[in-house]
Amino acid sequence: MLLRTAKDGRDVFVDARERAPLAATRDMFLDANGEAVRDRSINGALAAAIPGLPAGLEHLARKYGRLPLSKSLAPAIRLAREGWKFGPKNSSMLGYRREVLAGNAAAAALFLRDGQVPALGTVMRNEDYARTLELIAAKGADGFYRGDYAKRLVNGVRQAGGIWSEQDLAEYRVVERAPIRLKHRGFEIVTAPPPSSGGVALATIFNVLEPYGYPQLDKVPRTHLLVEAMRRAYRDRAVYLGDPDFVQVPVPLLASREYAAGLRAGINPDRATPSDMLPSAMVAPSRPDTSHFSIVDTEGNLVAVTQTVNLPYGNAVVVPGTGFLLNNEMDDFSVKPGVPNAYGLVGDDANAIAPGKRPLSSMTPTFLVGPDRVAVLGTPGGSRIVTMVLLGLLEMMDGGSAQDAASAPRFHHQYLPDQLSAEPEAFSTEEVAALKARGHDVRVGDRSWGNMNVVQWRRDTGAVETGTDPRWKGVGKGSSSEKGSIYR
Ligand code: GLY
Repeated sequence: MLLRTAKDGRDVFVDARERAPLAATRDMFLDANGEAVRDRSINGALAAAIPGLPAGLEHLARKYGRLPLSKSLAPAIRLAREGWKFGPKNSSMLGYRREVLAGNAAAAALFLRDGQVPALGTVMRNEDYARTLELIAAKGADGFYRGDYAKRLVNGVRQAGGIWSEQDLAEYRVVERAPIRLKHRGFEIVTAPPPSSGGVALATIFNVLEPYGYPQLDKVPRTHLLVEAMRRAYRDRAVYLGDPDFVQVPVPLLASREYAAGLRAGINPDRATPSDMLPSAMVAPSRPDTSHFSIVDTEGNLVAVTQTVNLPYGNAVVVPGTGFLLNNEMDDFSVKPGVPNAYGLVGDDANAIAPGKRPLSSMTPTFLVGPDRVAVLGTPGGSRIVTMVLLGLLEMMDGGSAQDAASAPRFHHQYLPDQLSAEPEAFSTEEVAALKARGHDVRVGDRSWGNMNVVQWRRDTGAVETGTDPRWKGVGKGSSSEKGSIYR
């Protein structure tokens, strides 16, 4: 969660990221032959890291909020108890995880009907979750991390084959971190520091692009340069990035203009660089469930929150009586150097599993601060989050609206696999051919990605505009204020 408090202009990143259980070991997802077993890091209880959200919610309410949790959680409690209608997007996401969910009785009872994906319009109620939230509302984080509830949660996880302990829950702490800040085209971009990879990758990409004059280029040469910058930033992600409480992440170096100049020197403006030709490239060649919301309030406080259980429906395990799915964030670690995770991302020592360590994330809640406007943005989307935020920022720096940023077609390169993936509408046939001629392995998929939510406040006119992703059915609400009422 990225916050700006208007009264003192202070930006803070509230890290409520999951942590590896204390009994986790570096090789816990390798079999006897040292091969990575993907099924164990994404399905079932071993995949679950210790949740941080309840602690994050209490921290926010206590330190920054105006409402007590009993008030701010009330709508969610009501929704859980009274139910919500199952829609087409829910259906496609659930279809992807149906088989695994069917293997866990409590998860199947909550999310399936006779073992199948519920019919559209089915009212989904979850009394256990309503009670879990009521406990947090009444007792704060302690209601979740300590006492009978924690005991029940730990027992349930262990019965399902997991390794959580009561100490894991009791020890969980939120960490406040300094956001990454960078300047580009007259804007200040404030964004997520490690243990997310997002801010560092954005800094690298913008620094690499800076001298090219790319805003004036045609679409194909511009896309080529963007992809070459993405490729290099994701290579560095694989090598250097991990939990900063465990490894020294060279943020100042990776975010510096000098370092970007070195990366730029290896870019051929006419040809794709094969990823395995980059220095220290990993040897091995080698999807999400996340949500994001963006808020600007009447005083100019800013909030960008990205929240995740990792893959859709997390690890597909519900501890009976809790009403919520456990995450499979353990798969965000590098289970073995060079072996890709569920998103195809590779990593090395910096993101190896260690007890109590936070897995490297791609979540990138971001502020764009310009002379005439302030925008808050972010999106779900696994490894593509960083490049979706990048494209959203570019759209707005080019003068686009919040809606343009949320709607614009998307493309992505993440170093490995060495592919330029694209949404169906991202490129014309001719553009695909021109990018292929430059050496890019272009893969136009049949699905769209992400669910971006953007709020933009024009400092010059006071107008508020929201942008919600047409790929889903987000809701944006805003009303305009007096001209120039904030950040004079
Ligand atoms: N679990 C996805 C991410 O944090 O990047």
